[in-house]
Amino acid sequence: MTDTKELKGVLVTGASRGIGYELARLAADDGYNPVLVSRTEEDLLEVKDILEEEFDVQGKIITGDLSEPDTPDRIFKEIENSNYRIDLLVNNAGRGQMGEFTETDWETDREMMHLNMDAVIHLTKLFLPGMKGRGEGGIINVSSLAAFQPGPLMALYHASKAFVQSFSESLAEEIENQGINVTALSPGPVDTGFLIKGNSPPPEESDRSISLDPEYVAEAGYRGLKAGKRIVIPGKLTSIAPQLIRFLPRKLVTKFVKKLNDYRLE
Ligand SMILES: NC(=O)c1ccc[n+]([C@@H]2O[C@H](COP(=O)([O-])OP(=O)(O)OC[C@H]3O[C@@H](n4cnc5c(N)ncnc54)[C@H](OP(=O)(O)O)[C@@H]3O)[C@@H](O)[C@H]2O)c1
Repeated sequence: MTDTKELKGVLVTGASRGIGYELARLAADDGYNPVLVSRTEEDLLEVKDILEEEFDVQGKIITGDLSEPDTPDRIFKEIENSNYRIDLLVNNAGRGQMGEFTETDWETDREMMHLNMDAVIHLTKLFLPGMKGRGEGGIINVSSLAAFQPGPLMALYHASKAFVQSFSESLAEEIENQGINVTALSPGPVDTGFLIKGNSPPPEESDRSISLDPEYVAEAGYRGLKAGKRIVIPGKLTSIAPQLIRFLPRKLVTKFVKKLNDYRLE
């Protein structure tokens, strides 16, 4: 399939800060023209300016709430009517929520599930065929260490990331040898403004001591994608956690995570 669109693009959701911002920077440095998505226009414009100034790229912003079902289609149409072709898709935007399942409200649950899962699937559904047609491309799905074990008091967040993790790995296998790498980037705590909606402590009081820099996490993910890795768990200690957990009784691990989350809720 020929594609006459001139601008080799990267679409990054949640590109205005944190891991998404760092991934957008790395891709821009690598020659991809960034299409930046989040809800806040002002922040996106700032990032676009920074990237255009620092790298030889042409940026584009698309504001939208990815917890709304129509947003991926709107993003796709806007790209279709532009001069960008998306060669790299970064499904990064996500949110968390702490609290007992019976205490969280349905609207917030629904929004989180839509953002963390449906938007990831829908954007992949829309942009992957173009990559397949051209025989090249890449997808980074930002998952989490939370994907590898149940998370009482953050049940839906852990479940949503397990979904993303499983989907990514399956997709990587399905499209192996078609010129498209698919990487699940699955970090432990990262030092960002990530909001675990609920009663979680403000970032400065949370897990900073054990958190990784978003820049480090993004770099590990980007390098992993280029190297064809299907799973990237940044940090030496963190990366062995899923392996260790497999040898422990699942009920014990689940109880431990509950204690941890209980402590974070206090
Ligand atoms: N930070 C961690 O400890 C950690 C650990 C493991 C995995 N992760 C995962 O890494 C990803 C990024 O996390 P982060 O810590 O970098 O987050 P962050 O600093 O809170 O940034 C989130 C980004 O997503 C955008 N966003 C949030 N809700 C959105 C929505 N409904 N529609 C569109 N855009 C939205 C935000 O911009 P607006 O608010 O302006 O929309 C922002 O650009 C998430 O998927 C998260 O689950 C994070």
